[in-house]
Amino acid sequence: MPGHRAGNRALDASREHLYSDPEIYDILHAPGTAEEVRILVGVHRRFASAAPKVALEPACGSGRYFPGLARCGFEVHGFDADPGMVRYAKKAAPGATIRTGRFDTFSTAGLIRRGVGRVGLAFCPINSIRHAASDAEMVRHLKRVKACLHPSGVYVVGISLSAYGLEMPTEDLWTGSRRGVRVKQVVSFIPATGDRTARERAEQVHSVLEIRKGRTLETRSSSYTLLSYSREQWEAVIRRAGLRVVARTQEQGRAYDPGAIGYALWVLGRGTRG
Ligand SMILES: C[S@@+](CC[C@H](N)C(=O)[O-])C[C@H]1O[C@@H](n2cnc3c(N)ncnc32)[C@H](O)[C@@H]1O
Repeated sequence: MPGHRAGNRALDASREHLYSDPEIYDILHAPGTAEEVRILVGVHRRFASAAPKVALEPACGSGRYFPGLARCGFEVHGFDADPGMVRYAKKAAPGATIRTGRFDTFSTAGLIRRGVGRVGLAFCPINSIRHAASDAEMVRHLKRVKACLHPSGVYVVGISLSAYGLEMPTEDLWTGSRRGVRVKQVVSFIPATGDRTARERAEQVHSVLEIRKGRTLETRSSSYTLLSYSREQWEAVIRRAGLRVVARTQEQGRAYDPGAIGYALWVLGRGTRG
């Protein structure tokens, strides 16, 4: 899963970076999206049925979930730091409210009414939340989402946890095609070197994209980092934000505890502190 942190600003403008090309991003990530929507709707039904069908996606990228959620009756809101992604998402989901915004400062307009959050289902899958640059930014983000949550609402976060010192480099392959454009991305992940500073906790991500249009082949390479979380560090920021863990599931929505390492959907609810 590709990404960048605040410290990688130079990459944001680079044509080589996946996020600078929302169409290519969308082609790569569209496969499986309908199933993911079904799972998210199921999580809302199971854990937040008393909360309104109002969805919020932080770091929404191309907005690939939004048309499906709207078809399931959700009012849809999202934001992303990248204005190009926001423009693309708005075209893909004209009925949604999508703004340019960052994790810890996004606009809460329309999400809180008379001091009470309206959001029944906030969600941030595939490690996007690890674009937050520090624990302080993460806690500010979680608190801001919490303020938007309906008292019975949930925030579903898809995150891979790290066991520092035990992980090996890994590789992911993503492929997709649309209207004669075939895209392949090979992403290599180099684990964090330590468990303390943001610099040590930076997982190195290297992406090589191949874009085939007819006989033309274009290759784009870029590198970025994601902030790593051990289970202890992740549970600590959840607590500091005043959220509580309602459930943990695997990608298909079945109950699952990832232990110290690996990917899970963390279903978070408002804590007892209001
Ligand atoms: C891997 S994409 C995920 C997009 C979408 N959530 C999905 O699942 O397809 C990560 C997104 O995070 C956005 N992003 C990175 N840092 C951010 C920040 N600090 N605040 C908001 N969005 C950010 C990027 O612009 C990018 O669109």
